[in-house]
Amino acid sequence: MEESPRAVALTSRFVAGRQAEDALRVTAQLNRAGLMTTLDYLGESVTTTEEAAGARDVYLGLIEQIFHRGLQANVSLKLTQLGLEVAEAACRENVAAVARRAGELGNFVRVDMESSAHTGQTLALVQDLYSTYGNLGVVLQAYLRRTDADTQEMIRLGIRVRLCKGAYDEPASVAYRRRREVDANFHRSARRLLAEGDYPALATHDERLLREAVAFAAQRHLPKDRYEIQMLYGIRRGLQRSLAAQGHRVRVYVPFGGAWYPYFMRRLAERPANAWFVARNIWKG
Ligand code: FDA
Repeated sequence: MEESPRAVALTSRFVAGRQAEDALRVTAQLNRAGLMTTLDYLGESVTTTEEAAGARDVYLGLIEQIFHRGLQANVSLKLTQLGLEVAEAACRENVAAVARRAGELGNFVRVDMESSAHTGQTLALVQDLYSTYGNLGVVLQAYLRRTDADTQEMIRLGIRVRLCKGAYDEPASVAYRRRREVDANFHRSARRLLAEGDYPALATHDERLLREAVAFAAQRHLPKDRYEIQMLYGIRRGLQRSLAAQGHRVRVYVPFGGAWYPYFMRRLAERPANAWFVARNIWKG
């Protein structure tokens, strides 16, 4: 179905465009401004092995283009997009194929973390592949009660972690529901990762948490090239640039593709002001 130009315009705040070329063009622009990127081909919960293989091929194409264009970028993928809910063995093969080619070209692959229904399986699959593909990293979510233990385990295994707060609606049985608790857990895991982890990525737009983490790293005389700060495309652009200007390594998560709906809705849910922005634009007609 043909998309309306208004849908394209409306999503453009958080999504680079519908094609890989859009994300590569945005990457070149951000690189010129001193920011690195990680590219996300939007899509999750595919229902056939063909769709999963299609997503794998998009990632393989991205890795080639990043290399040939000399871009400062890597990729972020979701296991349910590569077939986790269809056939775990096929999913593993798809991720392995992407990691293998990225490794040959000196690049890195981040496995995003999805809802808690997939946390254990995602960590197990990454751990298993990591023994062959050392260029694979994972994401931990500070809202999950298990994250303290997972942080220690990833550090022990040497697997690189992106730490974020977490974007799914999780029950209190597995997740902290209060902001104060999530922030405290982020703070704790961030310090541990900075002190003992391998090149952690602190993924948040929360200035207070970032300030604390950066101060902790400075106290420990940790060079700025031993960790990175990550933010989402379209969010706190000024902060992204000012941190880069202060010499921090800043990476922007750049999503693209036609399956933008769940990602876009998660961004709206995070801030009521975003929903107002959308509503205003729809009513304008
Ligand atoms: P918080 O929500 O407290 O926001 C702090 C400030 O940031 C706000 O006051 C506001 O200024 C700004 N802000 C945050 N969200 C905004 C929005 N949507 N629109 C406008 N302003 C906003 N999650 C996950 O479950 N699995 C994953 O793999 C990833 N991967 C990931 C990669 C990267 C690079 C980032 C930055 C984030 C993720 N996330 C994620 C999403 C993450 O879990 C979380 O939902 C968002 O980052 C929002 O939380 P903050 O940490 O920014 O804090």
